[in-house]
Parts: sequence; C-alpha cells; structure tokens
Amino acid sequence: MVTFLAVLGVLVGIAVVIGVIANTIDAEGEMDPVTLQKTAERLEPVGAVYTDASQVPAAPAPKASAANAARSAEDIVQTVCGACHNSGLLNAPKIGDAAAWAERKKAAGGLDGLVTAAINGMGSMPPRGGDASLTDEQVRAAVEAMLK
Ligand code: HEC
Repeated sequence: MVTFLAVLGVLVGIAVVIGVIANTIDAEGEMDPVTLQKTAERLEPVGAVYTDASQVPAAPAPKASAANAARSAEDIVQTVCGACHNSGLLNAPKIGDAAAWAERKKAAGGLDGLVTAAINGMGSMPPRGGDASLTDEQVRAAVEAMLK
C-alpha cells in the first residue's frame, strides 16, 4: 500500500509539473496563424447557390486559346504525343519507325485514317492524345509532323 501510494504521488507530481510547463509554453492558447488560415480554407463551402443572375460572379477567363492556337505541330508532338510515341509506351508506334507507320497508314487507309484515329483515340491512346484543347487541325498537323 505504501509503495502504491508513493508511486501514485510521484505520478501526480509529474502530471502537475507537465501541466505547469505546458501552460507556460502556450500561455495564451493561440494557434499558429498559418494553421488557422489553412483550417479556414478547408472549411470554406465548396459552392454557392445564386437566386439572382446579377449575383453570379463572372466566369473565369477561358484558357489562353491564342497561346494554344500558336502551338506548333512540333511542340505538340514533343509535349503531348511524345509521352507515348517517343519511347513506344503502351505499344504506341514509335516516331521514326518508318515501317510501323507505313503499315499503319496502309491499314488506316491513308493519312486521313490515321488522323481520325488520333482524334477519336485508339486502343490505349486517349482522344487527341489526352489533350482535349487540341483542334482537329492541330492533331492533323501533329500526325503529319510525326510521320516526317
Ligand atoms: C497515352 C499514350 C499516347 C499518347 C499521349 C498519344 N498516343 Fe498515339 N497511340 C498510342 C497507342 C498505344 C497507339 C496504338 C493504338 C493501337 O494500335 O491500338 C497509338 C497510335 C497512334 C496512331 C496510329 C493510329 C492508327 O490508325 O493506327 C496515330 C496516328 C497516333 N497515335 C497519333 C498520335 C498523336 C497525333 C498524338 C498527340 C496529339 C498521340 N498519338 C498521342 C498512344 C498514345
């Protein structure tokens, strides 16, 4: 019993000491402002309902389509198509593999067939190589650039 009470006393003593230390470290109970801001951001509503058209905020400006239109075929091939066609990823026909491309061109019935496949997607290739912002003309130019 004596030992038990002694241990209990020591533990209570330690608890009091820890409590005092904790109070001195965080005396005002303030939280880190960065943490507070992040918490507020996480608690923001994901959407809002407007009952009056005039309240609706302007839609964000569409992606710079002028910049998109200016992308050259070579640029598109490197940044979009090259992800698969440079290395033959997912069994994509490799750029520069003339035999593979000639075979595909024949099977697809010419350049138009290849372009249609690139626009609509084929097998593991997503439509437009996965970049929906590309126009039909840009995809055609990219196919032509790849064949070169
Ligand atoms: C995610 C990987 C991936 C990307 C990105 C990709 N391709 Fe492909 N592509 C493939 C694969 C895989 C095939 C072979 C599909 C098959 O034979 O089933 C293919 C086949 C093709 C073919 C041959 C179609 C046919 O009729 O045989 C063309 C043309 C082509 N891609 C053009 C493009 C162009 C242009 C781009 C960029 C705008 C592009 N690809 C981006 C994976 C990709």
